[in-house]
Amino acid sequence: MSGSPHVADALKGFGTTIFAEMSALATSTGAINLGQGFPNYDGPAAVLDRAIEEIRGGNNQYPPGPGMPVLRHAIARHQRRFWNLAYDPDSEVLVTAGATEALAGALLGLLNDGDEVVMFEPMYDSYMACVAMARGRAVPVLLRPQTDGRYVFDETELRAAISPRTRAILLNTPHNPTGTVFSRDELECVASLAREHDLVVISDEVYEHLVFDGAVHIPIATLDGMRERTITVSSGGKTFNTTGWKIGWACAPAPLLDAVRTAKQFLPYVNGAPFQPALAAGLDLPDAYYDDLADDLRRKRDLLLAGLQRAGFTTYEPEGTYFITTDIRPLDPHGDGMAFCRQLPHTHGVVAIPNGVFYSAEHAHEGRHLVRFAFCKTIELLNDAVERLCAGAR
Ligand SMILES: Cc1ncc(COP(=O)(O)O)c(C=O)c1O
Repeated sequence: MSGSPHVADALKGFGTTIFAEMSALATSTGAINLGQGFPNYDGPAAVLDRAIEEIRGGNNQYPPGPGMPVLRHAIARHQRRFWNLAYDPDSEVLVTAGATEALAGALLGLLNDGDEVVMFEPMYDSYMACVAMARGRAVPVLLRPQTDGRYVFDETELRAAISPRTRAILLNTPHNPTGTVFSRDELECVASLAREHDLVVISDEVYEHLVFDGAVHIPIATLDGMRERTITVSSGGKTFNTTGWKIGWACAPAPLLDAVRTAKQFLPYVNGAPFQPALAAGLDLPDAYYDDLADDLRRKRDLLLAGLQRAGFTTYEPEGTYFITTDIRPLDPHGDGMAFCRQLPHTHGVVAIPNGVFYSAEHAHEGRHLVRFAFCKTIELLNDAVERLCAGAR
């Protein structure tokens, strides 16, 4: 919560992001940071080497506004190769400063004052802030765990969330923080409402390649009648272990993408020139790269999942993403995730994120007792973290 009297009304309540607070705590205490979702290992050498070559070769000035053609073409090839979605690289693909800028551009570009955006919660923390900056209204629909631990939405609640002011549905699959990979039936439910009410779908698919155990990622744009109303957003950060490069993209039919571009050109405008051809090289890597990426993460998920269970947490097994949600109540009957996460670096030398921050104020109690751990870390670091969590308070 920001205490400054200077903050605009629309942004009051957003304060400093939890990631900044918890990463600073990791630094000041020397704790292992399983909070923010970034790998502590590098991406493929071909991608890193290409970025270095680009810098040495002088690709260090503003790239073109829509992104370098080499990357836009590679994104279009990627969408066709993996999802059989055809986009024109010149008019239907836009390179952005991470997925975050694509999402901000979509919301700022599409919303008029008071327009409503239906979104599932818990949710990635930039969604509500971007809707607020666009002077829109976020309408959250809860995902709740079933008995098997998989988080799902209630179709009646989703339908009830749609009003004459609804402009868009903001979807995230694979879903952070719950790890749900939405099934075809679930996506069809979202799609049918979008078609019925003539809504735009903004689909955040940054974890598109990080799915496990036979779960299948389905871009909602592939469903009947959805390509023309969907803005698909992704980025290179999670797929190529380059979260600090902040190169993302949006794919959509030209009229929808124009709305995103109109806002985006007045945000950072462009970014990351030398990283754009490097990620183009990454997107063209053979299937084996993508298979190994998911396999490696599945092993890491399994290690941390077993470790968290041994340490006494109740765990929710993710079908995709970087994250495991846990219930702390077996360890801490008060079940205050925020207090727990502020203590954990001091007592056990590990940083995690309280899931309460991924809920609207109205539903914060739903996530109060939940804490999220990231497993995109080396096996050694994960083993170390598990050892610390299983040990008594330090
Ligand atoms: C669901 C989701 N969307 C978007 C992002 C941000 O992506 P980028 O770093 O490409 O802006 C993240 C990062 O954690 C995320 O979890």
